[in-house]
Amino acid sequence: MSLSGDFKGPASATDNQKSATLTLDGKTYEFPVYQGSVGPDVIDISSLYKDTGCFTFDPGFTSTASCESKITFIDGEKGILLYRGYPIDQLAENGHFLETCYLLLYGELPSKAEMEDFEQRVTRHTMVHEQMNRFFTGFRRDAHPMAIMVGVVGALSAFYHDSTDISDPKQREIAAIRMIAKMPTIAAMAYKYSIGQPFVYPRNDLDYAANFLHMCFAVPCEDYEPDPVLAAAMDNIFILHADHEQNASTSTVRLAGSSAANPFACISAGIASLWGPAHGGANEAALKMLEEIGSVDNIPAYVKRAKDKDDPFRLMGFGHRVYKNYDPRAKIMQQNCHEVLEAVGVDKDPTLQIARKLEKIALEDDYFVERKLYPNIDFYSGITLRALGFPTSMFTVLFAVARTVGWIAQWREMIEDPEQRIGRPRQLYTGSAERPYVPVEKRG
Ligand code: SDX
Repeated sequence: MSLSGDFKGPASATDNQKSATLTLDGKTYEFPVYQGSVGPDVIDISSLYKDTGCFTFDPGFTSTASCESKITFIDGEKGILLYRGYPIDQLAENGHFLETCYLLLYGELPSKAEMEDFEQRVTRHTMVHEQMNRFFTGFRRDAHPMAIMVGVVGALSAFYHDSTDISDPKQREIAAIRMIAKMPTIAAMAYKYSIGQPFVYPRNDLDYAANFLHMCFAVPCEDYEPDPVLAAAMDNIFILHADHEQNASTSTVRLAGSSAANPFACISAGIASLWGPAHGGANEAALKMLEEIGSVDNIPAYVKRAKDKDDPFRLMGFGHRVYKNYDPRAKIMQQNCHEVLEAVGVDKDPTLQIARKLEKIALEDDYFVERKLYPNIDFYSGITLRALGFPTSMFTVLFAVARTVGWIAQWREMIEDPEQRIGRPRQLYTGSAERPYVPVEKRG
């Protein structure tokens, strides 16, 4: 592949002999174009600054491919989401979350033996160092559980020194297993701490989702057996949230990891980014919005506010940076929602009635249709998670538990990329040009 510049080009994209021509100040420049297996071609501009002295300008990276990846593919126009090529609805209908974890991490669906071995390895790492309990007592009881997650997950690197050397493949593997295994335990501890109940140890006889419900809802004074319907719904929710290409939190993990920071610190950075209401915090914000709307009669007023440029209010759970069609996960999430509400006997949940009516009104309104604003995964997840028994403040924590495997898979792919270098974007500077210091007595 004849390529210009230091960058040797993507490892496995095909150079389809196309190139892009740029004319600037009367000079012409050629840049190679690469084709992925599916999705848009990319123009390799890695030599642009060296060749032209110019940067590209793309705030929010709406037209920028930050990396080559083989993990997740999204087609925003067609509403397609593939994990390692497998459609999300087929994985959600036929598989389970740890199978999806294996697929995202290793690239193929596991054989029976591989699945058993992986399940065993994760199960054996679900406990956390007993001293980690003390971190929790430093937080106020009413601390947001996402604040606790950022702190406690980052502190894992203080306990697991034997899996922080990112140059050692064995340590990278153990760090991946530890993260996937311990996130539910830490999340459940954050929940228990917030309600003043004792921490519940993981049970090795339960599967991943059932164990998580057990650690959240069991109490020492009586037996607790997770409802299989609710455990299956929880498992499904984990699958839907597992990975999503180069979204804000994944890009945060990749950029943090590009400096060779340890994996626990990188995941902690991802959790911090996911917390934002424009991203993973939208499920908490969407439910709060539905509760604030309070009645289907109030919907038109809120839709009017969402369209008002002078009003910062947006319909939480609507719109997406990539999906300009229905988020495929939202459809499955809606199905999940019905099943859980039926299982817990609240199929007449007034909030669900408001959600359904809001969705219908919004999807008939020109403002939303023109801007291709459809419900995203966060629109129905809040209602489902509340029906499962979680408080609103735990919604984004559950998103983080699920997304950890995606973050780890993307982090590992970045570390193992021979072309990997520290991420260092540039800028368009519009501040003051150089000027001399003025002593205070001479200032106006
Ligand atoms: C997630 O990236 C991922 O993959 C994320 C995620 C994942 O799995 O990792 O899918 C998870 O983060 C889902 C998104 C959750 N966020 C929300 O539901 C919050 C509400 N949505 C908006 O904040 C917004 O839609 C974003 C942030 C999701 C997308 O922002 P964009 O693509 O930058 O959209 P935009 O700001 O360019 O909007 C285009 C237009 C604007 O109006 P005009 O300037 O063209 O007149 O649509 C309007 C926006 O004002 N608009 C909305 C709206 N979202 C966009 N108007 C009302 N309500 C909304 N929700």
